[in-house]
Amino acid sequence: MKDILQELADRRATARLGGGEKRIEAQHSKGKLTARERIELLLDEDSFEEFDMFVAHRCTDFGMEKQRPAGDGVVTGWGTINGRMVYVFSQDFTVFGGSLSETHAQKICKIMDMAIQNGAPVIGLNDSGGARIQEGVASLAGYAEVFQRNIMASGVVPQISVIMGPCAGGAVYSPAMTDFIFMVKDSSYMFVTGPDVVKTVTNEVVTAEELGGASTHTKKSSVADGAFENDVEALAEVRRLVDFLPLNNREKPPVRPFFDDVARVEESLDTLIPDNPNKPYDMKELVAKVVDDGEFFELQPDYAKNILIGFARMDGQVVGIVANQPLVLACCLDIKSSIKAARFVRFCDAFSIPVVTFVDVPGFMPGTAQEYGGIIKHGAKLLYAYAECTVPKITVITRKAYGGAYDVMASKHLRGDVNFAWPNAEIAVMGAKGAVEIIFRNEKSDPEKLAAREAEYREKFANPFVAGARGYIDDVIMPHGTRRRVCRALTVLRDKKLEEPWRKHGNIPL
Ligand code: HXC
Repeated sequence: MKDILQELADRRATARLGGGEKRIEAQHSKGKLTARERIELLLDEDSFEEFDMFVAHRCTDFGMEKQRPAGDGVVTGWGTINGRMVYVFSQDFTVFGGSLSETHAQKICKIMDMAIQNGAPVIGLNDSGGARIQEGVASLAGYAEVFQRNIMASGVVPQISVIMGPCAGGAVYSPAMTDFIFMVKDSSYMFVTGPDVVKTVTNEVVTAEELGGASTHTKKSSVADGAFENDVEALAEVRRLVDFLPLNNREKPPVRPFFDDVARVEESLDTLIPDNPNKPYDMKELVAKVVDDGEFFELQPDYAKNILIGFARMDGQVVGIVANQPLVLACCLDIKSSIKAARFVRFCDAFSIPVVTFVDVPGFMPGTAQEYGGIIKHGAKLLYAYAECTVPKITVITRKAYGGAYDVMASKHLRGDVNFAWPNAEIAVMGAKGAVEIIFRNEKSDPEKLAAREAEYREKFANPFVAGARGYIDDVIMPHGTRRRVCRALTVLRDKKLEEPWRKHGNIPL
């Protein structure tokens, strides 16, 4: 018996070494942690339960039968993050460059199936040279098995991808189908075809970093939701993100103790909005002043900055925040911001997270670039997302809510549950100047008359009371009391239920 115990200990020790000391050193020298070190940082201490430590590949081509390392390049299992269960896979670059073989894929699929069945998030730590070249189509099949599970898990359990090394070819499509992608700066990249192929096909010369590094995907493409300095920071941020999420779509997000006063009065909000309606202010400041302890976990902070998305808590309850940002593009909605916010609203809806929307929007961005780019279709995504969303929706119009953008931004007409406006809000078809220039076009030659018309229009429509008189706004509230009013609205909506007619699925304008 003692020998068998020793054998088990030896086998485990060998498996833990992955591709061996030399390759571990090489991994460290690139500033990267190993697959197991990453899991240790991600999960609560001693909480990791590993599966399939002794799985080995079955390939016999190209001399592969001589190298059959235990674990086959991926460490899989489950553990806890702040006491809550998550499933995890972590690709081991020291074993065949973390490449995906048939058995490697089977290990990932096993934990994904368990996650879907048992209702817990899947976190994938990606660091892989892609399909195991020696295995050919078997490894492609393995990828497709993973993809299928990504789709089955979508909307059932949260899926998070962390890109911590190469991720290329079709391999990028598994992370792409997960809910959140975090990348590590300077050591990770994602692309469908690498720089060499790009050069051959398009003659463009580009580095891997420029083509698919963290900066590219968080600033240009929006493929990734966050970029972090190193492995340690990225994993710490995943832990923070998981704290906001329910484990699955059958339960609500965790309610956490907080140290803020629900009825906190924030006097500074009364003077946040400049007197001049064309002057910007920082919506982030507003959000921080309204949510619990000023904590706003922003997603995609470097992309489409004219809209803010992210998680926060109010009265301890997790909320998804969507807010127009007046500091950028005069807070207009455009293609990028519509897509960014639409996907976030759909995530919140899938996982029972109430959506709190702060509105200051003069409309959709005009111009040929937007029209040719399909603003009609892409703006419709946000409209569709808000309209289909059945979680509690609370809206606060802080300044402008003009035109179609008023309708889109969680208006009463799209089943907004509680819609507030600040006293200075302007809810109208468009700004007063633009409006009179159209309806009093024939008075254009008389600037005095036009100015009087403008003043009249502003007096009549540039306020929240016309909408209030129709019940489109539930109340006009004092800015300083916003936190209390939103928290109370969330409390009253806690058990909201909204039945929908049966359908297979809608057809969002993709
Ligand atoms: C088998 C692989 C491998 C792969 C790397 N290795 N990628 N083995 N299949 N796909 C092995 C290397 O042979 C090497 O083994 C070890 O991993 C480390 O690789 P290095 O090249 O030394 O590391 P580095 O210099 O850091 O370069 C990493 C890399 C490079 C950029 C990822 O290895 C590379 O270009 N790999 C091939 C990438 C690729 O073309 N993959 C197929 C993509 S197509 P030793 O024994 O020397 O340590 C694809 C299709 C998916 O993935 C489709 C899904 C639908």
